[in-house]
Order: sequence, then C-alpha cells, then structure tokens
Amino acid sequence: MKALDGVKILDFTHVQSGPTCTQLLAWLGADVIKIERPGGGDATRNQLVDVEGADSLYFTMLNHNKRSLTLNTKHADGKAALEKLVAACDVLVENFAPGALDRMGFSWERIHELNPRMIMASVKGFGPGPYEDCKVYENIAQCAGGAASTTGFRDGPPLVTGAQVGDSGTGLHLALGIVAALLQREKSGRGQRVFAPMQDGVLNLCRVKLRDQQRLAHGPLREYSQFASGEHFGEATPRAGNDSGGGQPGRVLKCKNWEKDPNAYTYFITQEAVWKNICDLIGKPEWRDHPDYATPKARLPRLNEVFEAIEAWTMTKTKFEVMNLCNPLNIPAGPILSMKELAEEPSLRASGTVVEVEHPKRGSYLTVGCPIKLSDSAVEVTRAPLLGEHSEEILREVLGYSKKEVAKLVESGAV
Ligand code: COA
Repeated sequence: MKALDGVKILDFTHVQSGPTCTQLLAWLGADVIKIERPGGGDATRNQLVDVEGADSLYFTMLNHNKRSLTLNTKHADGKAALEKLVAACDVLVENFAPGALDRMGFSWERIHELNPRMIMASVKGFGPGPYEDCKVYENIAQCAGGAASTTGFRDGPPLVTGAQVGDSGTGLHLALGIVAALLQREKSGRGQRVFAPMQDGVLNLCRVKLRDQQRLAHGPLREYSQFASGEHFGEATPRAGNDSGGGQPGRVLKCKNWEKDPNAYTYFITQEAVWKNICDLIGKPEWRDHPDYATPKARLPRLNEVFEAIEAWTMTKTKFEVMNLCNPLNIPAGPILSMKELAEEPSLRASGTVVEVEHPKRGSYLTVGCPIKLSDSAVEVTRAPLLGEHSEEILREVLGYSKKEVAKLVESGAV
C-alpha cells in the first residue's frame, strides 16, 4: 500500500515546475496520467538531447512513475476524451502559460461543472497583479522572487542559484497544496483550486532575506562579512556571498589542494556552543576566554580575522579530514560536494536518493529518487514513459473505450 493509492491525477504539466510536482505524487502512490500533444509531447523530451533517438535526461529525470497518453485537446474528439478524463480523475495539474487552459475550453468553472470533486492545481509565474499574464521560466522566478538580488558577492552582479527553487521549489509547494486539498475533500466532498505562483514560492524560500530587510531599519547586519569589513549597507538586503544566513556565523573556507580542485572547500560554522573546541582545534587556545573573542558579540567585528585563522587550519586538511576532525568535537562543518561525488556517494545510493534506472532507448542512467522517506509507503522509481506508451491502455481502462473507438481516435489525429 502507498500513501496516495487510488488517487488519479491528470498531469497536464510540462518542462520542470509541474512535472516535479506530479512526479512526487506518483512516488507517493498516485496514478499519474501525463497528457501530451501527439507528435512531440512535452518539449523537454527533445531538449538537451545527449543520446540521439532517446528522450532526454531533462525529460526522463522529471517524469518517472507516470503513464503517457497522447491527446490533441484542441481536436473535438480529443476534447471529448479529456472531458471524460476530468470526470474520472481526482486532480488536474497544469502549468501552461496564463490563459492557455481557458482557451482550450477548460476553465476552472467548466472543470468544476464536469466534476465537482476535482482539485485543479496550477503553477504560474506570478499571482494576481501586474505580471499575471507573463510567461516565466526558472531564472526569471529566481530574479523576481528575491533569490538573485540576495545571491552572489557584493561587488558582482546578482546570481541565480543551481538549486531550482523557482521550478522544483514551486512544484513542492504545489504538491503540498494538492495533498491538503485531497484531505479537505474527505470532509467537504468538494474539490477546490490550488494555485502556486513561482514568485511567491521563491520569496517563501527567501524568507530570511525579508527578515534581514526589516532588521536593516535598526542598524547594520552585524553577522554579514560586510559589517566586519566596515562597508556601508544600502537600502536593501545585500548579497552576502557565502555568509551564513542564520545567527551562527559561517563561511566557505579553502582546504588542501584548493588551487587544483574547484571543490576543495568546506563550510565551517563558528557555533557559539563549541567556540572553545574551535579554538583548541585551530591552535588558538588564547582565544577561548579572551574578552575580544570569547563571545559571539565580541567576535562580530573580528569575523574576518577569525575566519582567516580557521582557514589557515582548514588549508592544511582535505575537506573530508576537516569533517572527520570537527564531527567528534560537535563543530558543524560540511564538505563542498561536487555532482560527481554525490553521484558516487554510497549512502545516497543505499537510501534510494540516487537511483540507477533502466530505459529501453538510452540504457541505464542515474536520477534523483524521492527525497522524502515514508516508513509505510515505499518508493520504487520506475522509468519515465515513452510518448503515448500508455494511450490505448488508459483510454480502454479509465474511459472504457473499445479497441475500435481507440483506433478511430488514432486515425483522426486526436491521439
Ligand atoms: N493538445 C493541444 N494543445 C496543447 C496540448 C495538447 N495536448 N498541450 C498544450 N497545448 C497547447 C496549449 O493549449 C497552448 O496553446 P495556445 O497558446 O494556443 O493556447 C500551447 O500548447 C503552448 O502552451 P504554453 O504553456 O504557452 O507553452 P510555451 O512553451 O509557449 O510556454 C512556459 C512555456 C513554461 C513559459 C509557460 O507554459 C508558462 O509560463 N507556464 C507557467 C509557469 C511555469 O510553469 N514555468 C516554469 C516552467 S518549468
């Protein structure tokens, strides 16, 4: 048994934000039916192609455990099939550009009329307001949601992050909304709309930066390295480089071989509770009780000096040696891991977070499995579907079409 057994999802999503949401729901046990345009399907199938003739990793890594149905929903017969699917399913998830579903003839009002229990979940770039009609991709969301203005170094331009907080982050928000709406439907018997705008999702993940925006009104942000360097704070939360976003100052520090290895770094946190251990470890026992260093407040104007001393020590060790020496002393530190190291990490393989999947056209490939672990709802990652792989099966099993009716739909170009 799986957590979402029995839940049927019409997956009208494409690219990344929507597909990450429905992939998660599939891992939790939902039957996810991905509807794709006949001919090409989700555009990502053919983007960033690495193996000619096979669906790209872009597509396969975002669409595991789903079934694929090709349906031209602008064709009269395709539209009729979609109406039946709406009546037969529990949730419709979509991330089309604003207005596309309405133009197709499937407004929320129409969907609610076809199936009052239907939950309709949407991702758009922006919520109601001046930009509600705009198309949005990941990096636009990162920029519009506050991530880019607060990422990077003070003397450089805004930076987008490698973590896809706009797409995958919003997909996560949407999935939570859907699960909550399913739970509410148990009591109310009614479906509802679930809406997750990407700008709002990114801002939610940048919550601590809005915190700092308001703290600025009461003086400089003393834990930012900018303060220790004596630099002026402007009107908005500044880019903070690798400064820790919390109350325990931290930095990225060089480790042995940093000149040759771009990832020979560690993240080191000067947690208040273990200050004395840090002093002993880096060979600065005189700082243990010295009034200029012994308390977090006294250290704030001296953070550059403190981290320089710690770095002089970390540069004599590999990032893993730093971790192994810090851990027994309860000092929080972590290696900067490359994608290569993560792909090879045995514990991530063992936990099912890095999974090897077999695909008929591309052979075996690595993917990220379900990062949420439920003790009573095991996840087995199965490959993404080929375009239209399950069309006949879905039309016959879910909608009760006969073999002849399916053949007619294929002939008409609706499937
Ligand atoms: N049958 C027939 N038509 C279909 C179809 C199907 N099965 N599936 C999609 N279409 C049509 C849509 O109805 C739409 O037609 P219309 O513009 O004539 O109304 C068309 O395909 C294109 O859809 P659209 O969503 O506009 O795709 P796009 O490639 O132009 O834009 C995005 C892509 C991502 C920019 C846009 O969808 C968007 O802004 N989505 C919301 C935000 C989002 O999720 N962004 C992150 C993506 S990772």
